[in-house]
Amino acid sequence: MVLQCLAPMLGGFQPHHPARDVKYHMKITMIGTGYVGLVSGACFADFGHDVVCVDKDAGKIAAIESGRMPIYEPGLDQLVGSNAAAGRLTFTTDVAAGVKGADAIFIAVGTPSRRGDGHADLSYVYAAAREIVEALDAPAVIVTKSTVPVGTGDEVERIARELRPDLDIQVVSNPEFLREGAAIGDFKRPDRVVVGTTGSERAIAVMSQIYRPLSLNQAPLMFTGRRTAELIKYAANAFLATKITFINEMADLCEAVGAQVQDVARGIGLDNRIGSKFLHAGPGYGGSCFPKDTLALVKTGQDYDTPVRIVETVVQVNDLRKRAMGRKIVKALGGDARGRTVALLGLTFKPNTDDMRDAPSIAIVQALEDAGAKVVAYDPEGMAVAAPMMPGVTMVGDAYEAAQGADALVLVTEWDIFRALDLKRLAASMAQKVLVDLRNIYPAAEAAEAGFALTRVGSQVA
Ligand SMILES: NC(=O)c1ccc[n+]([C@@H]2O[C@H](COP(=O)([O-])OP(=O)(O)OC[C@H]3O[C@@H](n4cnc5c(N)ncnc54)[C@H](O)[C@@H]3O)[C@@H](O)[C@H]2O)c1
Repeated sequence: MVLQCLAPMLGGFQPHHPARDVKYHMKITMIGTGYVGLVSGACFADFGHDVVCVDKDAGKIAAIESGRMPIYEPGLDQLVGSNAAAGRLTFTTDVAAGVKGADAIFIAVGTPSRRGDGHADLSYVYAAAREIVEALDAPAVIVTKSTVPVGTGDEVERIARELRPDLDIQVVSNPEFLREGAAIGDFKRPDRVVVGTTGSERAIAVMSQIYRPLSLNQAPLMFTGRRTAELIKYAANAFLATKITFINEMADLCEAVGAQVQDVARGIGLDNRIGSKFLHAGPGYGGSCFPKDTLALVKTGQDYDTPVRIVETVVQVNDLRKRAMGRKIVKALGGDARGRTVALLGLTFKPNTDDMRDAPSIAIVQALEDAGAKVVAYDPEGMAVAAPMMPGVTMVGDAYEAAQGADALVLVTEWDIFRALDLKRLAASMAQKVLVDLRNIYPAAEAAEAGFALTRVGSQVA
């Protein structure tokens, strides 16, 4: 329905009722069973489609099959369990077996930053594309769900034509916008679904059928050109990263001039043209997407001799900010961290995930250790992944254990479990009552009552 309204505006592609050879019930293969692939696969199965999830990591597949999720994502174990039990969701390590009879094969493998130059590393995408087309036994649609730079779909199409000139293989871009920690809700109730094609009626019809259940949730299915779809994903992430970086710089200015960044954020966010989301000042953006995607967009701009200077600056400012947080903590300790113990609450790049990729905590730990501090940390889900990344840090069982004997307590990631801590109890067990709240969640009055000298982001309270 929404598709019909939008289609004339969006790239001129017409909405499609299923062509005669397109079924309502789809057979879908998901290549890559990570944060995106597993959530997307389970949600597609929950819509009623038949889904095979493929991963070359045999340990991951074995874990899922035995009911253990390889990642922490709220609600995922129930969603996977119920759909697997219903026979709509199966798992394999065998790409060839997985793609047999599929209407659409989604590529959801990683696209990390390439070592050395910051370009997106597309080797996993192209390797998956080769494996898929070699195994195909019938015409199919290959869909890149991974975040990939402009032109990647063209290259996947070239690979398909070269290896399988005998088959009609369509290549579509369908970037994913889900957020870790809220991934299932985001997938099922997205703000929009973007589908980029080169105009193939079959591809448009298959994608329309795959996402048809979402029309019940009023999610706009937006068809566009393939290169445009690829760019939309990067533009979205770069814009959000810019918004975060903007408010972080305002926070620094607030500290310098004696203003309150939370009020500034509210004051500008209530303007509908700006909006209140992504205006929380903090230690800088991290995670598996924004850092690598902003960097990749910068590289694309340079490749096409069209620099995206705002994004270049955002990348630089954010990189500097993470280490600056380390200096902020040292300052709160009186300027010397040697021999002091700093307790970190939260290590993951945001709450409700175990994802440690590019988490600000990594740079903060490094800066503190460089300054001679000993670091103790607690995170509800991230410690298993974090421990080998920060071998000098002592991981403990909860926030109170972390605070025991520490000279400073630092809130790094705003997990719910940290929101209602007993500040008096924490303070009483510490060697020095120093609290650094990098997410601005503790009321200044409560911290003061507990005897803490409080440092926040974007306001002068200490
Ligand atoms: N994580 C997010 O929040 C998020 C959100 C939107 C978009 N994305 C994008 O989605 C893509 C995937 O991200 P992710 O976080 O799910 O990555 P991930 O590292 O969690 O998962 C990727 C999986 O692909 C598997 N894999 C790699 N090559 C394979 C192959 N040839 N055959 C089978 N399996 C293979 C890996 O073993 C791994 O399990 C990336 O491009 C990312 O930028 C991620």
